[in-house]
Amino acid sequence: MCGIVGYIGPKEAMPILLKGLHRLEYRGYDSAGVALINQQGTLNLYKCKGKVSELEHFLTGKDGSGNIGIAHTRWATHGVPNDVNAHPHYSASEQIALIHNGIIENYSLLKEALIEHGYTFRSSTDSEVLVNLIEYIRTTNGCTLIEAVQQALKQVVGAYAIAIIERNNPDRIIAARQSSPMVIGIGGEGEFFLSSDAASIIEYTEDFVYVGDGEIAILDRHAPLRIVNHDNHEGRIDIRKLQLSIAQLEKGGYPHFMLKEIFEQPKTLVDCIRGRIHPETFEVKLSGVIDHRERFLSARRIIFVACGTSWHASLIGEHLIETLCRIPVEVEYASEFRYRNPILSPDDIVIAVSQSGETADTLAAVELARKAGAFVFGICNVVGSSIARATDSGAYIHVGPEIGVASTKAFTGQVTVMTMLALAIGREKGVLDASLYRTLSQGLSTLPEQLEQLLSEVAPRVEELAKIFTYAHNFIYMGRGVNYPTALEGALKLKEISYIHAEGYPAAEMKHGPIALIDAEMPTVVIATPDHTYEKTASNIEEIKARGGKIVAVVAQGDSLVRHSADYVVEVPVVHELLMPIVVSLPLQLLAYHIAVNKGRNVDQPRNLAKSVTVE
Ligand code: AGP
Repeated sequence: MCGIVGYIGPKEAMPILLKGLHRLEYRGYDSAGVALINQQGTLNLYKCKGKVSELEHFLTGKDGSGNIGIAHTRWATHGVPNDVNAHPHYSASEQIALIHNGIIENYSLLKEALIEHGYTFRSSTDSEVLVNLIEYIRTTNGCTLIEAVQQALKQVVGAYAIAIIERNNPDRIIAARQSSPMVIGIGGEGEFFLSSDAASIIEYTEDFVYVGDGEIAILDRHAPLRIVNHDNHEGRIDIRKLQLSIAQLEKGGYPHFMLKEIFEQPKTLVDCIRGRIHPETFEVKLSGVIDHRERFLSARRIIFVACGTSWHASLIGEHLIETLCRIPVEVEYASEFRYRNPILSPDDIVIAVSQSGETADTLAAVELARKAGAFVFGICNVVGSSIARATDSGAYIHVGPEIGVASTKAFTGQVTVMTMLALAIGREKGVLDASLYRTLSQGLSTLPEQLEQLLSEVAPRVEELAKIFTYAHNFIYMGRGVNYPTALEGALKLKEISYIHAEGYPAAEMKHGPIALIDAEMPTVVIATPDHTYEKTASNIEEIKARGGKIVAVVAQGDSLVRHSADYVVEVPVVHELLMPIVVSLPLQLLAYHIAVNKGRNVDQPRNLAKSVTVE
C-alpha cells in the first residue's frame, strides 16, 4: 500500500530516492518523506502531506546531502494523511529513522507498554511505535541495532517492509520484511538499493535479491549483502537478473499511463502468448500445467481467489474452464474466502489471480489454501512477487509494469492466460473438441492484430461518445454469460477513475429490480455480441428503451439487429464468443478513461485508491 526506497553507496542519495518515490507513487500518494545522513553525521528528516512533488517543493533550500538515505510515499492505514503521520519516523531520541510499508496489528499493546516506559508519540501511526520499540530495546539491552531489530520484530504481529538508518552508523541500512514486498538492488562496490518494487530502481542495476518473510537484510557499504532471520541465522542470497526498460516505466508520449497501457494491449497480448502457443500448429503449452499434469487431471474442483479486476477476470476464467475442461469452478473474493473457514481438500486446485502479486487478502487466501493441502496456482504479473512465490506453480501474464491504478492490460493478460490454461487442461483431459481447441488457440494468436485495428477504428468514436456521458451521475453495464463479468469490469473502470456510480448486472437480472432505475438520466452500456443469448439481450434492450433509457451497445461488426435499437453503437471485431471479453474490454476501458479525463480526474492515481492493496 505504501512505497519504500533506500540507497547506500558512493552517490548522492537524494536524486535516487526522489526518482524512486515518483516511480512508487502508484502505491500510495497521501504523503512522502526522506531521511538522510550527511557527511557531517547529521540525520536529516523531511516529510509532508501530499504527493512527491510537494515533498520536492518542501525540500527547497534544505540540506538534502548524504550518500545514505531512505524514503517513503504513503497510503494511509493508521492515522490520517498529514505531515506528522508521514514517514520516515524518528525514534524518540531522533537517533534512528524508519520507513514502513504494512500494518503492525498489535501496535496498540506495544504503544501502551512504551508509554509506561516514558515514551511519548508525535504521530498516531503504528510505524512510530515500531521505531521506538527498536530504540527502547537497543537502549535498555545495550545491544546492537541489528539485535534490537531482531528482538523487536519477534514482538510484532502484522505485515511490514521496513528500512532503518541510525545517525551514529552512516555505513549501514537495515531492512526487514514480513508479507509486504521488498527487493534489494545490488549496485557497484558497497552500493545497494532497496525498494518495494524492482521497477523503481531498475535503471541502476539488473541484479536483485528478494527479501523473504522473516528476513532482515543488512546493507553495509563495507561488506557484502547479508540476510539473517530473527534468530540471526544467515539466509541465502539468491540474486535474480531482471531486465525492464526505462521506456516501459515512462508514459511513452501518452498523457496518462492508463491510456498507454490500454494501447499497449495488442503488444502485451503478444508478450503474454509468446512461447505458449505454437505459431504454426497453435498447440498450447503452459509449463505450469505440464509440470503438474496429474494435479490438473485429477482436480475435483478449481477455486479462483482474487480481488477487484482480478476477481472479474476469474469470473471469466470460470466460464472458460467449465466450458473447455468440464471441471467445476468456484470464484471467491479472497477477502471473504480467507475468513470463511472454507472446506478444502488436497484434490482442489486454488488459482490465485493478482496483478501486483501483493494483495494482502489474496496472499492470505493462498496461505490458507496451502495449509489445507490444496494445490495453488498463481496468475500474476509482477515477477518474484509475494503471491507468485507463495504458490506451488503458476503462469506470469508478462504484460510489463502496470502503473495506472485502474487495471487494463493486466485484465486482458489474465483472461488470455486463463484461456490458454483452459485450453491446455481441456486438451490434457481429452474433453475438448479438437476443432474448438484449434479455433480458440488460433483465435488468441490473431487477437493482437484485431485489437490493433479495433483501437485505431474505435478509439476516436469512443472519445466522442464519452463527451455525451461525461455528466451522467449513474451508469448501468449489462451483459450475459461470459460478458456479465465484462460488464462488471466495465463498470469498475468507470467508477474507480471518474467517480461516477456504475453497476454491472446480468442482462436478464434487470427485470428483477434494477430496471426500476431506468429513465432518460440513466445510460446503460449493453454488451450484445453474438452468442446463444444474443436475442435475449436484444429483448432486454427493448425493455430499457421502452422506459426511456439511453443505450450504448457494444456489438460485433455486421450486427443487424441491436444496432437499430441502440442510441449509440460501438463495433468490435467478430471473434469466438469465449474471446469476446478481451475484445469488448478495450472500448469499455476507453469510455471510462475519456469520461474521467473530461471530468478532470487524476486518471492514473484516482482518489482514495492505490495500485496494490497490501493491507486488509
Ligand atoms: C482494478 O482496476 C483495481 N486497481 C483493483 O480492483 C485491483 O484489481 C485489485 O486491487 C486487485 O489487485 P491485484 O490484481 O494486484 O491483486
